[in-house]
Amino acid sequence: MATLLLITSVAAMADNGHQLWLRQTGLDNPACNVTQKAFNPTATDIESQTVRIAMSELLARISQKLNIQLEKRADAPGSDGFTISRRGSNITISSASGTGLLYGAFALIRMQATDTMLKGGSVTEVPASPLRILNHWDNLNGTIERGYAGRSIFWSDKGEIISQNAPLLVEYARANASIGINGTVLNNVNASPKVLTTDYLKQTAHVARILRPYGIKVYLSINFASPKALGDLTTADPLDKDVAAWWKAKAKEIYDLIPDFGGFLVKANSEGEPGPGDYGRTHVEGANMLAAAVKPYGGIIMWRAFVYAANSPDRAKQAYEEFMPLDGQFADNVILQVKNGPVDFQPREPIHPLFLSMKKTPVMPEWQITQEYLGHSIHNVFLAPMWKEMLDDWRTYGTGANRSFADMKIPAIAGVSNIGNSVNWCGSDMAQANWYAFGRLAWNPAISSEKIAQEFISQTLTKDKKALAVISDIMLRSHEACVSYMMPMGLHHIFAGGHHYGPEPWYAPRGTREDWLPRYYHRADSVGLGFDRTMRGTGAVAEYPDEMAKKLDDFNLCPEKYLLWFHHVGWQQTLPNGKNLWETLCAKYDEGVREAEDFAAKWATVKQYIDPERFAAIGSRYDRQAKDAWWWRDACLLYFQQFSQMPLPEGAPAPRHNLADLMRFHLAIDNYTAPDMSKLP
Ligand code: GCU
Repeated sequence: MATLLLITSVAAMADNGHQLWLRQTGLDNPACNVTQKAFNPTATDIESQTVRIAMSELLARISQKLNIQLEKRADAPGSDGFTISRRGSNITISSASGTGLLYGAFALIRMQATDTMLKGGSVTEVPASPLRILNHWDNLNGTIERGYAGRSIFWSDKGEIISQNAPLLVEYARANASIGINGTVLNNVNASPKVLTTDYLKQTAHVARILRPYGIKVYLSINFASPKALGDLTTADPLDKDVAAWWKAKAKEIYDLIPDFGGFLVKANSEGEPGPGDYGRTHVEGANMLAAAVKPYGGIIMWRAFVYAANSPDRAKQAYEEFMPLDGQFADNVILQVKNGPVDFQPREPIHPLFLSMKKTPVMPEWQITQEYLGHSIHNVFLAPMWKEMLDDWRTYGTGANRSFADMKIPAIAGVSNIGNSVNWCGSDMAQANWYAFGRLAWNPAISSEKIAQEFISQTLTKDKKALAVISDIMLRSHEACVSYMMPMGLHHIFAGGHHYGPEPWYAPRGTREDWLPRYYHRADSVGLGFDRTMRGTGAVAEYPDEMAKKLDDFNLCPEKYLLWFHHVGWQQTLPNGKNLWETLCAKYDEGVREAEDFAAKWATVKQYIDPERFAAIGSRYDRQAKDAWWWRDACLLYFQQFSQMPLPEGAPAPRHNLADLMRFHLAIDNYTAPDMSKLP
């Protein structure tokens, strides 16, 4: 009875999700005692501030009777690493840096919050990558490209330049530091030149000041044509002396304001953005010119490899073709930032071949935390398993390349943020798990998806073991399920045009670039389905290391999950699984629908363990996700059926929609807002 009452009272407290995974636990139990060695308690230098933050976090949140000592020691782990050791009730956190102590403090708090408190002995952690960076696709007018959680927390829509809401930025810094994120790009890769004007740089410096004690550096996306666009010069040619001088002067201005500024993120000659190619120059010439400007201050250039020309025979091949020949020619402070797969953050993609082949130029992964192609902030899809898949391929096939997560030698890693000014930060309480997972995997790619899910749930939703198991199970199945109901077996980019929410494999407005149309990717015809990228097709398989290329090229060896990515398969062709393509495809879509329905049903069973506000908000998303799964399944199967001319297999459920209705429906939303659930079919 007592337990029941307790559960009821916990569940009755509404919770808007704003606290993320940082719920206070020890405030009413000041049992722990925290001391530090080596810092002047009143000093104002950044490192002392960082250590004071670590101490106050421990005091506020450790509820066990412990004596905790923070120790800066030259012989302790460096590069943000730390050691936590325990004897009895005495705990020492040691590190060679203040940020390492802060990360150690958050690690200890996490141990308590997830019931994995260190009992004795010691643990040491050193991050796999020194640069763990969020990319905000925030526009200077406050909208967020592919953002589904409200408006920017940095840039204002009210005519002021930037959000002056310092407490919110402190909360943001704290949340990131708690999961090891140490860098943030404040503006969209489709960058307005205006961000480099003095006014905006001053505001950037303001944000940098707030984030600095939390160990977070700021970076900016720049527009390659800035010298020209801002009216200072008539060209942005990277080999022009005045252009190089302009960037040098701009870098000096920035570093005078922000001495620890991280550097620039550059989207050049991609989707209409300007770049060195406009002047007949190469990526190397463009990137190295910028690199020289920030080099004296220790800045870096993250040069994106997301390039593809209109009407190329195979968009998936282009980045490799353009960048592989440039391997080794980039300056040593340039890192190539490469999306996990060769097309564009699809629900499932094979690994981008550049990760497996670049030998000398550092390559950093760009993951998309915001769910542009995975149901926006409506579908509950946990992305850790998807990112782990990429890491596993990197580890398996990347041997021989000069870096891989397995060697703990990743130069940097970026995640496109899903954060906005909505009260729960991400538009959806479950989407917070993807921000959390990005930080945890950037710190340690060896952590399992299961552990990340469990950590997240027990720090946010419930500690009840049974409920935790139910939620963790549906989170871990969610990515595979989403792939199954959206685009199984390697299908890709069959989304509604523009906003990318919902299915439109037929989308083909006249005059649109062919490579922006679903038919370019699915290639459905009377013979079969899928993009032939084998050696008999576009030859994209050859961009992979031999062993992998051979597998992908062979219909019998290609993993089923990538089959239609690499092969055009006959509708009636028998697959290695014994069934033909059409039967397998139908079965996959049906499985996706069943899974989505099961998630909604399972979620309903944890009601008593979750506060009513989040229970309802998350539940309504599971319900909508299940409806959308039907929408996807019906739209895709009915559309492809026009080509296969085969009936749905025996036992397959009858469609709920008819194709003509679905083809008439086009959701009217922009690229900045989450769809209104009531307006969906
Ligand atoms: C996708 C996305 C764009 C974005 C681009 C990029 O194409 O739809 O909104 O600008 O990726 O990563 O540069």
